[in-house]
Amino acid sequence: MRVLVVGGGGREHALVHSFARSPHAERIFCAPGNAGTAGIADNIGVGSEDLPALLEFASREGVDLTVVGPEAPLVLGIADLFEEHGLRVFGPSQAAARLEGSKVFAKEMLGAGGVATGAYSRHETAASAAAHLAGASYPLVIKADGLAAGKGVLICADAAAAEAAVEACFVAREFGDAGDVLIIEEYLTGAEVSLLVLCDGKDALPLAPAQDYKRIFAGDQGPNTGGMGSYCPVPGFEQKAIDAAMEHVVEPVVAALRKRDIVYRGVLYAGLIVTEAGVKVLEFNCRFGDPETQAVLPRLDGDLLEMCAAASAGALAGVKAAWKPQECVTVVMASAGYPASSHKGDLIEGLDAAGALDDVTVFHAGTALRGGDVVTAGGRVLAVSALGHGFAEARERAYEGVSHISFDGAQTRADIAARAVRAAAGEISLFPHGLEGLR
Ligand code: GLY
Repeated sequence: MRVLVVGGGGREHALVHSFARSPHAERIFCAPGNAGTAGIADNIGVGSEDLPALLEFASREGVDLTVVGPEAPLVLGIADLFEEHGLRVFGPSQAAARLEGSKVFAKEMLGAGGVATGAYSRHETAASAAAHLAGASYPLVIKADGLAAGKGVLICADAAAAEAAVEACFVAREFGDAGDVLIIEEYLTGAEVSLLVLCDGKDALPLAPAQDYKRIFAGDQGPNTGGMGSYCPVPGFEQKAIDAAMEHVVEPVVAALRKRDIVYRGVLYAGLIVTEAGVKVLEFNCRFGDPETQAVLPRLDGDLLEMCAAASAGALAGVKAAWKPQECVTVVMASAGYPASSHKGDLIEGLDAAGALDDVTVFHAGTALRGGDVVTAGGRVLAVSALGHGFAEARERAYEGVSHISFDGAQTRADIAARAVRAAAGEISLFPHGLEGLR
């Protein structure tokens, strides 16, 4: 099979890394890829949102399967375009990708499926939002409806912050068209779980659950990032909870889409939050999570390419996912200034030494080749994943990998998976409120 992976981050390196192990992979292309994918695939100089150029490339090169990493090309309609031209894609159609591309649409589908989620209201004008805020209690969350490069979710501690968020959306137009509509949502607190589900339009296959870390600093302090680490599986979120999430979240939402003649084919990422009032859906994404993928895939004991090909062909029935018994911990290394900015062009050293450690894989995200050197090229630079027998061993190996790598201003969180170690040892519960609502 000739495979094209669209995207150039850590998630895409992890996908390419898995595909490269498949006996079905004849040739792998990555658009645009990074310094990590360059070693195992052919990077092509096409951006992930340049749909006409991607189509031209895939047609010319006889690509058998295109696997789309990021949400933007899916929301732009890459799957529809490729399928119109007879090219197979693993990724949802534009209509189905609205589960991530429109917060309002996701809420409507959750409502139609009777799935628990935060209470919300929808607003098209500043006046409508202001009227709602007059009676609001805080904190609350204001979300731009559309894709806003990860910046469209604003947690507002008080009325002043909420008014500023509404102004950013409707007056300053900071989110462009993505802010034509906003929602004001109840602020939910609790442990989050990312459940990535392969869907083929009829059947669905959940991958092992993961948790990620969104804040830049240890102890969940500082601004939100794209994700500073992750681990897989999730102690306490066992098979029964996965089955329940499939029955009470994924299947009703896929059915609600189907009622509107929308077929969901690709990864459905259910972002769950376990609150005092039960398990709710925080968000949906229409793609693999990042950095969850870097912690999930090292544990997969099977052929991911075969699974993606089966899903894209509507043939997932009977396909099973087997998992290695080890746990996986992923520690992200980010560049100086991240998340406000990022530093490019800093030399990265120690990659070979880290990658040579047992059961350690260094996934590249924002990296580039400069001559024979690997240099930083983005906010999140690397994701160091390690398998271990138990979270303590996996964590130790991941941080050992990190210790071999250096670049100017590298930032890591020191507490990735510390809570998983304690939870697995029975010292704490990640879900003190129980998993009510997933029954
Ligand atoms: N880890 C969060 C995301 O992929 O959106």
